[in-house]
Amino acid sequence: MRDRPIGVFDSGVGGLTCAKELLKLVPNENIIYLGDTERVPYGIKSKETLCQYTNDDVDFLQRRGVKLIVAACGTVSSNVSASQITNLSVPFIDVIAPTISAAVKATKNKRIGIIGTPATIKSGSFNTRLKMFDKDIQTISNGCPQLVTLVQEGYIEEDNFITNNVCKEYLAPIKAFGVDTLILGCTHFPIISKIIQNIMGEDVTLIDAGYSAAMEVKNVLRKLDIERLSPRDKVEYYVTSQPEEFNRVANIFLGEGCDAKAILADIKD
Ligand code: DGL
Repeated sequence: MRDRPIGVFDSGVGGLTCAKELLKLVPNENIIYLGDTERVPYGIKSKETLCQYTNDDVDFLQRRGVKLIVAACGTVSSNVSASQITNLSVPFIDVIAPTISAAVKATKNKRIGIIGTPATIKSGSFNTRLKMFDKDIQTISNGCPQLVTLVQEGYIEEDNFITNNVCKEYLAPIKAFGVDTLILGCTHFPIISKIIQNIMGEDVTLIDAGYSAAMEVKNVLRKLDIERLSPRDKVEYYVTSQPEEFNRVANIFLGEGCDAKAILADIKD
């Protein structure tokens, strides 16, 4: 059991924000990453469709013998529960609980912003769970569908004119609300966190859903006593279309020493 890999999935490059942290936080663990790039974006799909996609993604990873699965995707985490995954036979971690707990710890003025995909914001999952933690917390949220496309297409440099302007537009009402904490509820968004931080200002704490989920993985592996003991010998990236596009963004984001070479796969393989 210990030596089996961890499975991480997202619609595209967003889950790399979790994988990047896992590479550092759990240095022995082997990782199998799936980016369902054929069907990206997930964030504008119905709950029924998201449930079907999640079942496909989980089956794909389980066929590769993973010991634990992370839905490194705010949209899936907000719209599909583990009980809706038909053949799930390993622990399943989503981004909501760890992200909420990091945001609650960070806020001082109890004003928290949430940005995510339209499906995530529509589900109200982050808002509801924040208020369950503390009813005095005030939230403001905004669905930001264009940001997923911009990140997928590689418009990620800090000075990118288009991404800066789109972010300004989406963030304006959140800034005006006076939040001191902003949840990046879509895992694509930490890839452009510098742009978001510049717009929001240094006083606002950004909560990265990918990082939060990676921390949770580390805790769960320890709790279940299924940590791998020997050094990592495998990191595999699979995508369901356009591996070159994925590799380009992945290698900029993962940085030096990470040479992602995604394998093109059929989700039914
Ligand atoms: N990265 C995903 C999320 O966290 C999905 C974005 C999308 O495909 O729309 O929501």
